[in-house]
Amino acid sequence: MDLKNGSVVTEFILLGFSGRWELQVFFFIIFSLIYGATVVGNILIMVTVTCSSTLHSPMYFLLGNLSFLDMCLSTTTTPKMITDLLAEHKTISVWGCMTQMFFMHFFGGAEMTLLILMAFDRYVAICKPLHYRTIMSHRLMNGFVILSWTIGFIHTTSQMVLTVNIPFCDHNVISHIFCDLPLVIKLACVKTYTLELFVIADSGLLSFICFILLLISYTIILVTVHQKSSGSLSKALSTLSAHIIVVTLFFGPCIFIYAWPFSSLASNKILAVFYTVITPLLNPVIYTLRNQKMQGAMRKLWLQHVSSTQNF
Ligand SMILES: *[C@@H]1O[C@H](CO)[C@@H](O)[C@H](O)[C@H]1NC(C)=O
Repeated sequence: MDLKNGSVVTEFILLGFSGRWELQVFFFIIFSLIYGATVVGNILIMVTVTCSSTLHSPMYFLLGNLSFLDMCLSTTTTPKMITDLLAEHKTISVWGCMTQMFFMHFFGGAEMTLLILMAFDRYVAICKPLHYRTIMSHRLMNGFVILSWTIGFIHTTSQMVLTVNIPFCDHNVISHIFCDLPLVIKLACVKTYTLELFVIADSGLLSFICFILLLISYTIILVTVHQKSSGSLSKALSTLSAHIIVVTLFFGPCIFIYAWPFSSLASNKILAVFYTVITPLLNPVIYTLRNQKMQGAMRKLWLQHVSSTQNF
């Protein structure tokens, strides 16, 4: 399927999940359902956080913002992947590919930062409860949200500035479900050794360091809670375990993909499904199914909605 020598590449071929026709249809149905649930679930969380008077606290503001990022992250890759499952020619233009990588790392970088800031929020809430309201002011929250978008933007721009001008010729087959930096760089017809190292440092090391930071901060929180009173440990554990599950599912695959990047293992496709398709759905599931305050707020909004429509 590769092009002839010396020709210039204008579009890439995404191999995606190769397999029998029935299997592709099966994946199509499953991923469509998951994506639909992701969009609905995350919009529900955003609406609940914005409209409900009981959820006006920093943790829920951050959660609402996380939902927004999750939805965006999923949207950069999943719809294209789903339609490709049924398409005969699974192609993507070079610019489409660049755009996809730009937004994926933009939202991904912002989400990583937001997860760290959410850990900080839990640290203040659990270890310094008396100062929580003064420390986590509205101004700081807005600052947090702006900071996460800024870091996402710097993260993606620093990589894409170096990627956008590399020439592609001869090879245009990407054995993956969407465009991602390590695989696209490998197709360049110039030597990209420094760029590869830069991507490992920028994406791989960054996710690794963020993950370690998060683990340390959760350990500090748990140790502090344990020293104060062992009774509150179980309560803190139930709040934190939700965060820890989300963080592990998001960072685990990222670290694996970017720290050992330039091998196109078949397992990379499955890992990529985790952080672009599954994790964005898991956030709403984990935070709503396990959070009674969130459920209560949703119920109340629903009842308000029902009674207001009956009045008309
Ligand atoms: C995102 O965070 C900002 C800043 O605190 C907040 O005002 C806004 O409501 C949040 N967005 C959502 C959808 O929760």
